[in-house]
Amino acid sequence: MIVNSVSLCYHNKFILAPMVRVGTLPMRLLALDYGADIVYCEELIDLKMLQCKRVVNEVLKTVDFVAPDDRVIFRTCEREQSRVVFQMGTSDAERALAVARLVENDVAGIDVNMGCPKEYSTKGGMGAALLSDPDKIEKILSTLVKGTRRPVTCKIRILPSLEDTLSLVKRIERTGIAAITVHGRKREERPQHPVSCEVIKAIAETLSIPVIANGGSHEHIQQHLDIEEFRQATAASSVMVARAAMWNPSIFLKEGLRPLEEVMQKYIRYAVQYDNHYTNTKYCLCQMLREQLESPQGRLLHAAQSSQEICDAFGLGAFYEETTQKMDARRAELLAKTAEKVGEPVEDTSGVIKMAVKFDRRAYPPQITPKMCLLEWCRREKLAQPVYETVQRPLDRMFCSVVTVAEQKYQSTLWDKSKKLAEQTAAIVCLRSQGLPEGRLGEESLSLYKRKWEALDQDSGGPRTQEPALPKELCKKPFVTLGSGEKRTLEGW
Ligand SMILES: Cc1cc2nc3c(=O)[nH]c(=O)nc-3n(C[C@H](O)[C@H](O)[C@H](O)COP(=O)(O)O)c2cc1C
Repeated sequence: MIVNSVSLCYHNKFILAPMVRVGTLPMRLLALDYGADIVYCEELIDLKMLQCKRVVNEVLKTVDFVAPDDRVIFRTCEREQSRVVFQMGTSDAERALAVARLVENDVAGIDVNMGCPKEYSTKGGMGAALLSDPDKIEKILSTLVKGTRRPVTCKIRILPSLEDTLSLVKRIERTGIAAITVHGRKREERPQHPVSCEVIKAIAETLSIPVIANGGSHEHIQQHLDIEEFRQATAASSVMVARAAMWNPSIFLKEGLRPLEEVMQKYIRYAVQYDNHYTNTKYCLCQMLREQLESPQGRLLHAAQSSQEICDAFGLGAFYEETTQKMDARRAELLAKTAEKVGEPVEDTSGVIKMAVKFDRRAYPPQITPKMCLLEWCRREKLAQPVYETVQRPLDRMFCSVVTVAEQKYQSTLWDKSKKLAEQTAAIVCLRSQGLPEGRLGEESLSLYKRKWEALDQDSGGPRTQEPALPKELCKKPFVTLGSGEKRTLEGW
């Protein structure tokens, strides 16, 4: 059994609740600034996380978990590392463990959402659906407790009867989890229903592990002092706050709530500094503005279509300019260092032919790739096979390939997510800069290529069949200048 090496303490804590779309990095940092002891990220679905790559973002000084479509699914930074809990949506123990292992070095705790009543969650057997499958709950939690280095917790809702609720939480406690959050409402109850402090209290009095009380916003918690009162009313160890913190995260400040204008400004600053997507920033600000959405500022916010426009609406235009300029400069500096490290040739002096192109697999039929086209062209021209040299830059782990054909090097100015893609991209630069066909769908000679590749597949190495002549328009440059300066005819290809 792996012993959890760093233990986050869940006793006597005020906690920012997990909130989809709200609980991203800027909100978590702001809640910490105002005095939250622990911050939960928004629920992230196991399957989505398992597609992600962990990337160290040296520009922002963050760790990003990035989906194949380049979207950042989870962004975190050193400042919150000892206080951030990663909440996942899962219905499978092995997947849950794989996610925990993916993120465990960057977070302080792992939580499983067992309280979300929304259909998108319950349909997949996640969230509150787990409450009616205690065997699965046990499997997921005990697998996590045994397999991850971080403390494991879960967040539940209460069941229709107290007896069933207590029997469930006792079973959950036996899995070895570090704490349990209880949202004191039943699965079908909405936020406007009263929260059951009595049931939370009964749970807190039954279990030995810390119980985190949740569900008190609005009815019980409107200012900082109310958090402690809610804790006492529920006899819980700690309190988790969702809506009251979403409306004004300074609820965590002992000295009392700060004016919303000031809070929103601080929020926007973090959002810009951490390159938060403007739609997410806008959503969170709208939650804070609430009734004031019709105010002049609310209207400006509503109309904003970029981070810059949001900043302008809040008088932070200069801050935006300054911060993005600094970021650009840092990016340029890091790229220059990377280029030095990998010996990237400078366009003017190196003689490398460069173009800003990318390989899009969807633009090619399944059997055809630019690399194949280039190889075949080299064979026809009795040239040595293309040689690919690929480098990966540490900054964002992207790849760039340089292909050498007849002593001339070709490379794209755009970097790719994998070595394979980078090689295809380099081949495109070579083919395109020479006016050669690259096998794309819609190129006229495609069906001819296809037949040819099929023939080659069947008879690799044997004598070549008659090569199809290219239509004239695909031979825009009848001569190409190769590395030696010699001219070669492409006629007949
Ligand atoms: C916008 C929003 C998003 C939420 N997303 C999550 C979530 O991702 N995971 C979760 O366990 N609960 C989620 N919840 C529920 C809250 O964490 C919390 O249980 C509920 O709001 C009751 O607490 P409160 O009275 O302090 O608001 C969300 C609530 C809100 C308002």
